[in-house]
Amino acid sequence: MATPVESTPCPSCGGAGYLVEQVLGKPARARRCECQVRCSRCHGTGYALVPGPSGPVAQPCACKHLDERLHLFNQIGIPAALATASFAAFKVYSAEHSTAKNLAEDFARTFRRDQPTRGFLLYGRPGGGKTHLLASTLRWLALEKGVASRYVEFMLLLSDMKDGFSAGRSHMEILRPLLSVPVLAIDELGKERGTPWEQSMLDELISRRFNSGLSTLFATNYFVEPRFTPQSAPAAGGRRDPRSPDARQEAEAMTLAQRVGDRIYSRLSEMCTFAKLDPNMDFRKDVPGAGASGYWGR
Ligand SMILES: Nc1ncnc2c1ncn2[C@@H]1O[C@H](COP(=O)(O)OP(=O)(O)O)[C@@H](O)[C@H]1O
Ligand SMILES: [Mg+2]
Ligand SMILES: [Zn+2]
Ligand SMILES: [Zn+2]
Repeated sequence: MATPVESTPCPSCGGAGYLVEQVLGKPARARRCECQVRCSRCHGTGYALVPGPSGPVAQPCACKHLDERLHLFNQIGIPAALATASFAAFKVYSAEHSTAKNLAEDFARTFRRDQPTRGFLLYGRPGGGKTHLLASTLRWLALEKGVASRYVEFMLLLSDMKDGFSAGRSHMEILRPLLSVPVLAIDELGKERGTPWEQSMLDELISRRFNSGLSTLFATNYFVEPRFTPQSAPAAGGRRDPRSPDARQEAEAMTLAQRVGDRIYSRLSEMCTFAKLDPNMDFRKDVPGAGASGYWGR
């Protein structure tokens, strides 16, 4: 009996058909792997001739699918440092890791364009893997499901809008594409100063998405529950415990509701399932050879 010939996956892409590039300061970009450049069915035209009732007809080739999905990935705006972040690269060290990863993966797998899907919000101190999971979710949606999405850091979005004002453009030029994209991830929520204008922009963005039944995902360094323990809170009479946080830490210890205001907070609780991802470890320092990207040339 003949033994089946095992086809070895492409050494460059491992069989995925695409490669994700990291270019300093640019959003992540995916491109076809060399192994996919010359499609034997359509010879790179994207259309293949298939037999029809009255002769051959041109039909989109299966490889066109790949181009469309890579295009969707390239529209997301994933930061270069997280270009290669994926569910597969996210390691589970604790129950919190597992809950947060399951939440993100369930969202990605159950997401449907034709009905509202509840989003999620991840909170915890920096370095815990929140952006990694946002990026993994959007990547999965684009490459596995063909769903369009956008990633924004809220502060950068605000500064783009302010730059737009100086150039005489309305904030709607920047906001409009974000109002209709099927999935939007807003990262670093609460980092902004929280002026009435900033709050009204956030309110407009998330209320309009909510009213249209569109999913929005969030990550924030601000906690849902208060982080002060009674010992670290200012002592009675205004004197501080020497171990108490300084003013900057005090700002960091504000709750998410305090940072974004009650109205937006209540909207977030309607739209999202909350999960804490605060694994109490510095991923790069504590895990030898860690980090999905190798971006910093470890
Ligand atoms: N559980 C994990 N598995 C694999 N890589 C991780 C994990 N947690 C964090 N990282 C990596 O550590 C770095 C910091 O994570 P990041 O998602 O930016 O944290 P946060 O957004 O919570 O501040 C990134 O390079 C990320 O890929
Ligand atoms: Mg982050
Ligand atoms: Zn390949
Ligand atoms: Zn083809």
